[in-house]
Amino acid sequence: MCNNKTAQDTCVLVTGGAGFIGSHTVVELLQDGYEVVVVDDLSNSSEKVFDRIDTIVGDDAAERLTFVRADVADKDAMEAVFDTFDIDAVIHFAGFKAVGESVQKPIEYYSNNIGNTLALVDVMRAHDCKSLIFSSSATVYGDPDSLPLTEDSPKKPATNPYGWTKWMIEEILRSITVADPAWNVVLLRYFNPIGAHASGLMGEDPKGIPNNLLPYVAQVAVGRRDAVHVFGNDYDTPDGTGVRDYIHVVDLARGHVAALAWMRDKAGCEVFNLGTGRGTSVLQIIKAFSAACGRDLPYVIEPRRAGDVTANYADCTKARELLGWEAEFGIEEMCRDSWNWQSHNPYGYEG
Ligand code: UFG
Repeated sequence: MCNNKTAQDTCVLVTGGAGFIGSHTVVELLQDGYEVVVVDDLSNSSEKVFDRIDTIVGDDAAERLTFVRADVADKDAMEAVFDTFDIDAVIHFAGFKAVGESVQKPIEYYSNNIGNTLALVDVMRAHDCKSLIFSSSATVYGDPDSLPLTEDSPKKPATNPYGWTKWMIEEILRSITVADPAWNVVLLRYFNPIGAHASGLMGEDPKGIPNNLLPYVAQVAVGRRDAVHVFGNDYDTPDGTGVRDYIHVVDLARGHVAALAWMRDKAGCEVFNLGTGRGTSVLQIIKAFSAACGRDLPYVIEPRRAGDVTANYADCTKARELLGWEAEFGIEEMCRDSWNWQSHNPYGYEG
């Protein structure tokens, strides 16, 4: 990325920009003055999110947004995008993300997630665009030996194909920066993104039965499901339920904008954890969401879920010191905003 450019003359390609984290990042980029091109095939998202984005950012900023419906693995479509727009940097979210489904469909997960990344970097190289932020995951740390997790904590074997795709794509991108020092790659390892835009216009909209805790809790709160299933209460944690580092999706989105500004005059490959540094248990989440929605949410204790770790939370010192970024919101705001979204959009964008 040319280092004397400002946000106002920087064009960012966001793959998967119609999805949960992608859409919130697009809003933050537009509000910071960037020109944004979203490529999304809408396989797990809704085009209606773009009307919501326009409403949030206003007409002037919305003019800087272009949506192209395409699969990132479609090289002809991606060539056309790079021919049409002067892309300075790419934020790559597009990918399959359901852990359980990845166990059932490993060929699809490896082929889609790794295949689309390789197609993307090939087209980027051909157009001499070598700045990339990749959407990685704390899943690469596996079952940690010690907490909190720093970026130097060892990567551990993944427990499912989804996790392996994140693990492997990190290594692929690192190899690319070794082979060609002109590449500038930032790997962002997300902890557990939850919450929604404070406007109530954008949020998480999973298809089918939610795999993740928060969308499930939100659907119980809105009456779509009977009770939260708590996967295990015999972990070595204060209340026996699993502990995670939940991060507000708007904080996470702002982490991408901070990384984009930081990498302007950099090259190589750098890793950052994006979390809050605080662990919260499943029961604490249910309690906080109950407070947000104004009634005690029912739950039942179930056996542990295969592949789950006891606890993980981040050390976010590196992001604070280098990116000047820190999560602002706590669990209360995350549950408040998630409830605001769910209660106004009980069936998501299409409802
Ligand atoms: N949980 C329940 N009931 C549910 C769903 C989850 O009790 O219905 C529990 C889990 O056992 C875990 C916690 O809630 O203790 C969080 O589970 P999530 O499924 O919401 O999140 P995970 O930590 O399992 O997964 C997240 C991301 C993955 C990523 C993984 C590892 O969704 O993409 O973190 O970092 F791979």
